[in-house]
Amino acid sequence: VWTVDISQKHIAQSAAIKEAALWIREGKTVAFPTETVYGLGANALSEVAVANIFMAKGRPSDNPLIVHIGDKKQLTNLVTKVPSHATQLMEAFWPGALTLILHSKEIVAKNVSAGLNTIAVRMPDHPVALALLQTSDVPVAAPSANLSGRPSPTNAAHVLADLSGAIDGIVDAGITGIGVESTVLDVTGTQPVLYRPGGVSREEIEAVVGKIDVDPSLKGQVVVPKSPGMKYTHYAPKAKVVLVDEASVLKCEVKAARARGERVGIFATRGEIDYEADVIIKGKSLAHVAQMLYASLRRFDEENVTVIYVETVPEIGIGLAIMNRLEKAAGGRMISKK
Ligand code: TXA
Ligand code: MG
Repeated sequence: VWTVDISQKHIAQSAAIKEAALWIREGKTVAFPTETVYGLGANALSEVAVANIFMAKGRPSDNPLIVHIGDKKQLTNLVTKVPSHATQLMEAFWPGALTLILHSKEIVAKNVSAGLNTIAVRMPDHPVALALLQTSDVPVAAPSANLSGRPSPTNAAHVLADLSGAIDGIVDAGITGIGVESTVLDVTGTQPVLYRPGGVSREEIEAVVGKIDVDPSLKGQVVVPKSPGMKYTHYAPKAKVVLVDEASVLKCEVKAARARGERVGIFATRGEIDYEADVIIKGKSLAHVAQMLYASLRRFDEENVTVIYVETVPEIGIGLAIMNRLEKAAGGRMISKK
């Protein structure tokens, strides 16, 4: 474990970053913070290193990884062409929580893209991630640094809880800012298609490139998702998660559950109402809810609650990503008044 203080001036000069970057170059697996969640990085040019990521996470080999770069110039080495709307998006949002799917030059190891002819690329907006990427000077494949099926890690303790012993190192720089993963956008066609809502909102993207398409799997239609990762049950805590629209309904449900002998957790995303339950976590704003979403799911598990009731949030801004993750965690369990 390397600990890096992000308030220091010359992060890239720190011994920690120099060593971690060397480990990446040499093909080791190193977890590191980004502005969204912690990633488990490895040299994307090495098939063996990338295979070790899949192994450590227990990740299905048909689920491709995002390639992280520390400089926009690296993109041209990785992809065959950059359409004009992709350039506009990079200029607007990189470094940042936007992953672009482009046609691959197939420079990176084959297992990075799981056999697809496209590649997912992003330049993260985090001083430690950027220092590590720039110093290692190789493209770095990095999925979220959790065991497959567990909530993504937003601090180093989460990474160690899931992957301790299975990875070579971790750069600890405290909690991540945004708290949910990057937005995944396919820019290979004439109109961009949203595969995964995330840190950069649909509204922000549309303000730059106009109307975008949304993958049908995100609209609740039963189709094979274009983004292979979206077909797996993600973000599932051990307790049953139930989404509820209305405070009055939530109160009734909680009462009934406690009468049945359940240990009840409530994630009060609107932060206003005083509920009664065994564990209550309150969010102050959409941004705050996003930031503590995964930590909250983990905490409910540690507290051994058997059922978690969650207030739904409006699907605007980061709310779209929050609801996407909550719906997955709930496996479709939703109670609404209507
Ligand atoms: O914020 C993030 O994106 C974090 C940090 C570490 O950067 N990473 C992350 O990676 O969330 P991961 O592996 O957990 O999610 C990557 C998503 C998956 O849903 C995967 O299927 C999709 O991106 N993906 C990767 N390459 C793709 C491709 N060529 N075509 C379509 N989807 C792709
Ligand atoms: Mg993930």
